[in-house]
Amino acid sequence: MTDTATYQTVAKVSDLEPGELMYVEADDAFICLINMDGEIHALDDTCTHEEASLSDGTIIDGEIECPLHGGAFEVRTGLPANFPVVVPAETYAVKVEGERVMAAKRGEG
Ligand code: FES
Repeated sequence: MTDTATYQTVAKVSDLEPGELMYVEADDAFICLINMDGEIHALDDTCTHEEASLSDGTIIDGEIECPLHGGAFEVRTGLPANFPVVVPAETYAVKVEGERVMAAKRGEG
């Protein structure tokens, strides 16, 4: 399989310690980057419940808790993990090249 996704550099590895999260932008995408146990994940930053920024949230046991109503998503999959979140968050493909953290929209077929 060829990797046709367009990756953009969004951060440096050193910007994000394990357990930390940060807000980044790529084109028109607003992304919450999460370093979970040294592995970097990327979710759409806007909560699917209302208009909260997940990068203001908290990482707890593999889930990210929204700062507004306490809804949560699984960091790895973006799937809803706690009410009132019922719609999954979009996830982005992430790769690390040297010191660069790169993210891309997942392929659309
Ligand atoms: Fe995130 Fe309500 S805005 S749980």
